Amino acid sequence: MANSKDTVYPLIKEGKLPRHIAIIMDGNGRWASERGLPRMEGHRAGANAVDKVVTCCRKTGIPTLSLFAFSTENWKRPDNEVKALFDLLNIYLKKKLNTMIKNEICLRISGDTSRIPEKSRKLIDSAIQKTSSFTGMTLNICINYGSRDELLCAIEKIIKNRISSGDIKKISSKPEWREIEENLYTSGLPDVDLLIRTAGEQRLSNFLLLQAAYAELYFTATGWPDFSDQDIYLAIMEFQKRIRKFGGLNEKNKTMEKIHE
Ligand code: FPP
Repeated sequence: MANSKDTVYPLIKEGKLPRHIAIIMDGNGRWASERGLPRMEGHRAGANAVDKVVTCCRKTGIPTLSLFAFSTENWKRPDNEVKALFDLLNIYLKKKLNTMIKNEICLRISGDTSRIPEKSRKLIDSAIQKTSSFTGMTLNICINYGSRDELLCAIEKIIKNRISSGDIKKISSKPEWREIEENLYTSGLPDVDLLIRTAGEQRLSNFLLLQAAYAELYFTATGWPDFSDQDIYLAIMEFQKRIRKFGGLNEKNKTMEKIHE
């Protein structure tokens, strides 16, 4: 029997939920062209899917949701598409701010915000300020984001901090992972447990590479605009089946080792 929304949801509630789900929202363009529509319509439908998935994750009790909305490479797209994407972000932030507040969702942005158009930046700053105290869920929208750029910025911040500390020994010492982590855009967020990519591609495209070092990967053929609550539940169900070892042994192997001691 195919899993329906009503059969999957009670199953995932019994298991351990991912603390951080990250999604590469792919397939808006293909969704549109399959329907003979301009790419923009695919992105519009994609923005509606964002709304549904945020609501679903909040209801399910996922503490952190990261969405890849615009990459450091997406500037290569035609100007009108770039503009349309930021317009959609603006509409989303304006329309959903009250819902975020009602649902106690804290908005974070990961990425180099200096290149983001001013209108979007203002809306972002205001939404961040109005939601910063909420603990219901963190919605981390990744804009002008790329892992390599994030690492370069973190190194730059670390060097500047070290120089301004004036501590000669510290300046040239090998950093600990914690120091790097504290200087990433995602500082303070848990590592990614489950990374989802839609629309059939199976690659990470420079998205949260360090944060997803131990993430379970889930690829689905469903295009982003069609991604629904059911798809989130199926991804979580798959996550719950995986055995995570983080380089160690799983519980069963540990028990076997004890028996043979
Ligand atoms: C990838 O599909 C999608 C994007 C580059 C943009 C994602 C943006 C949205 C979902 C809408 C706005 C976001 C928010 C947060 C309101 P693609 O265009 O590469 O699809 P294709 O590979 O089929 O061409």
